[in-house]
Amino acid sequence: KTVKHTFRVSYISGLPDGVLTTSILGINGKYPGPLIEAEVGDVLEVTVINKIQDGQNVTLHWHGLHQRGTPFQDGPSQITQCPLKEGSTQVYTFPLLLPGTYWYHSHVNSQYTEGLWGSLIVRGTPEVWQELYDEEILITVNDWYHTSAKQNEEWFLRPESGGAPPYPFSVLMNGVGRYPCGTALKAGRLCVSYSQVRPVFKVQPRKTYRLRLINTSGWVAFNFTISGHTLTPIEVDGIDLAANQPVHHAIFIGAGQRYSFLLKADAGVVGDEFLIRASLRKEFLFTLAGNINPAPEAVINEVTGVIKYANVGRQTYSSSPLVKPSFEQFDHSKTYRTVETWSTMDFLTEMETVPFDAVPAPPNFDTEKVVNIIFQNDENGLRRGSFNGHPFELPTGKPALGKLVDGIPIPEATSHFNMKYGDIVQVVINNPELGPHPIHLHGHHFWVVGMGHSGDGSYDPLRHQLNLNGHRRDTVLVKEKSWLVIRFRADNPGVWLMHCHIDWHMLSGMAMVFVEAPELASSIRVPDEARKVCADHNVFI
Ligand code: C2O
Ligand code: CU
Repeated sequence: KTVKHTFRVSYISGLPDGVLTTSILGINGKYPGPLIEAEVGDVLEVTVINKIQDGQNVTLHWHGLHQRGTPFQDGPSQITQCPLKEGSTQVYTFPLLLPGTYWYHSHVNSQYTEGLWGSLIVRGTPEVWQELYDEEILITVNDWYHTSAKQNEEWFLRPESGGAPPYPFSVLMNGVGRYPCGTALKAGRLCVSYSQVRPVFKVQPRKTYRLRLINTSGWVAFNFTISGHTLTPIEVDGIDLAANQPVHHAIFIGAGQRYSFLLKADAGVVGDEFLIRASLRKEFLFTLAGNINPAPEAVINEVTGVIKYANVGRQTYSSSPLVKPSFEQFDHSKTYRTVETWSTMDFLTEMETVPFDAVPAPPNFDTEKVVNIIFQNDENGLRRGSFNGHPFELPTGKPALGKLVDGIPIPEATSHFNMKYGDIVQVVINNPELGPHPIHLHGHHFWVVGMGHSGDGSYDPLRHQLNLNGHRRDTVLVKEKSWLVIRFRADNPGVWLMHCHIDWHMLSGMAMVFVEAPELASSIRVPDEARKVCADHNVFI
């Protein structure tokens, strides 16, 4: 079947954390954007109407989907398409071939940090672990700004920022959170404390839930816990896991990453309430003098929701097994049954999980790209992040994919890496820096074959062991002073971006493109929509 949506994108105002914000990019008047639910084999058809009032362009990217055979639908502006102009319409249409938890977001500058994103669930028919759970819970966590993306970008791209991202004002769960109104009022911002709510999920004691967790942040990573409960991973970034994974109390989730967990409602009786907490990782807890956020210390470094045990009976769902949260006001007098697990946190680390299908990584590779994460000052004194010291610049005129199908060769350069069809590609990422970077590759799930700490953050094939156990995902954290090795098979002709999913780092240049199977470029079909959107810019493909 075809799953159809129409998305009108425009600025709206709202109070996600109590503070009136007028620079929210909403879809159909709402933030976050609509949830898309579909099944494997469906065709997704999303009509995007750009009604952004100040003339900005827009695109949408379907994070984690491979767009195999449909590379023009991938979304990154100037890479796989021309950006959609104000007043224009673009229909994205492609088959959904992969089950899992995904999300979509704008891929123009830092637009998604203004709220232009939504969750995307593709269910298997049947789901691999369907018999293990009764219903589903969807939780999103993200950072939030009271300043507009334009203000943030202008501030960030000046030498005074020192290359540090704009500090978020608050963190949100399912689109809501809480900023201290006293601080907001002092800064001259309207703040309505009674509008501050948090999501409450009512669960039936003894039932099991599939908890889908998505970090849609522009910057931060979270520690995620549910007091009194453990989390058993069953999916990582769309990859179903084998049964009996180790159980965890706390999850470390970086920007762009997703998980599904089994959550058993076996910690109490009807009436009990448990806190869901997403806390900023310690590396995000420093105060930055001179940041665009004038009171970064005022950020509530944690956002909470509630699991409430209730007699909800069997949900009678026809279209969605998702438990609909209610949004309840904060009640500061209330005490929760918290069984603290912070002292015994056992984080899910990226290498531990084993996929259901357990396809081991290829033991060898045909071609290799070594990428060093480098921050350095440019000629204007602006501190920029980059891969290999060359801050990525978007192509102008024809998008890179348009050039490829038109037979304009994309010469191999520092920020372009060409690979032949079928090649096993190894990418080594060395991070000598003091912060973690969530590395995302479009068009693929890759095998994570190794990661580790080393003094200077670089991989040494003679000293470091790789692990071919089959762990795969589409966004992986390379930690501070650490290295990462990934592999994938170049079997998806197109032009695919690889970048840090800290949106500010991508903006400053931490990105490159993989030109995959250019020898097959003539077999890529150019959809009429792609031609039309480019023609609006007088660009012809
Ligand atoms: Cu989630 Cu290039 O993006
Ligand atoms: Cu980064």
